[in-house]
Amino acid sequence: MSAPYLERAMTDSTPHSAAGSSTMSDKELISNIEQLKREKNAVIYAHFYQESAIQDIADYVGDSLGLAQRGAKEDADIIVLAGVFFMGETAKILSPEKKVLVPDLAAGCSLADNCEAGEFEAFVKQHPDHEVVTYVNCSAAVKALSDILCTSSNAVRVIESIPEDKPILFAPDQHLGRYLQKVSGRNMLLWEGACIVHETFDAKAIVKLKARHPNALVLAHPECPEPVLDLADHIGSTSSLIAFATEDSGQEYIVVTESGIIHQMQKNCPEKTFHAAPNNENCSCAECPFMRLNTLEKIYNCLLKETPTVEVPEDIRLRAVRPLERMLALG
Ligand code: 13P
Ligand code: SF4
Repeated sequence: MSAPYLERAMTDSTPHSAAGSSTMSDKELISNIEQLKREKNAVIYAHFYQESAIQDIADYVGDSLGLAQRGAKEDADIIVLAGVFFMGETAKILSPEKKVLVPDLAAGCSLADNCEAGEFEAFVKQHPDHEVVTYVNCSAAVKALSDILCTSSNAVRVIESIPEDKPILFAPDQHLGRYLQKVSGRNMLLWEGACIVHETFDAKAIVKLKARHPNALVLAHPECPEPVLDLADHIGSTSSLIAFATEDSGQEYIVVTESGIIHQMQKNCPEKTFHAAPNNENCSCAECPFMRLNTLEKIYNCLLKETPTVEVPEDIRLRAVRPLERMLALG
């Protein structure tokens, strides 16, 4: 059986995207994107999992928390969100007066796609005494059903902000949830979602790679399964992994997350060595199929045509903004 999120990623996304039939070189595309940005008072935000060329043209490159914080105080009229759809929705929830564009509407997320709002609402209703803590990798409708949101940057802080006698329901990433249980000692009811990229990392293959590079430290995102996290020297959000690699005195790292992140690590530390972690014996090919739907050409076309836009119905937005602002208030 093929999961809906995979079908979405593998489907020809042309009807949903700003793709055209450009014959422009990357250099021409970049120059035209710069011109459109100036003419339209637009900015480009990119996540660390975007291809290198997109990260390099962005006005801001960040993790989910950074993108949300930046979006909340943005002055530009148009935000192009080169990431995945839930990141565009977060920007729209926080800045409804702005036009938020995404290069490809099919850029979803397995976590968001496997936590359908109706099913989630039923789950929440079964546990009315629980505080509902939701990872931002979810739809606006699921955000609207939550008490507070978190990202991988502030998840521990968010859990610690909840009174100890209050039971917690956590969704949609079971691996992040299990990691939070371990770190905080809290008992949490978990939604059984997972990231299709992080779930593929293989602990045995990482042990073998580590044997070949004994001085390399293992840096892992908390969306990885527990046996992989048990091997990590540092666990954190994408920005935390980059900061650790930049500030640490070591020289060599095994990076257990989407491989796009290595671009920033290598930029910050050209003298250090970064190994993309293996998904199995034969492949170190952890690329998010949703993140990688975005291209320079789609960014150019979405700025030119000002489509596809991200829209959030106002009733959902008003309910989703509260748990989002509660999270942002915690930093
Ligand atoms: P970060 O918030 O750490 O950037 O993670 C986003 C994400 O989608 C991880 O897969
Ligand atoms: Fe979602 Fe995983 Fe892709 Fe992040 S890497 S956007 S969690 S599918």
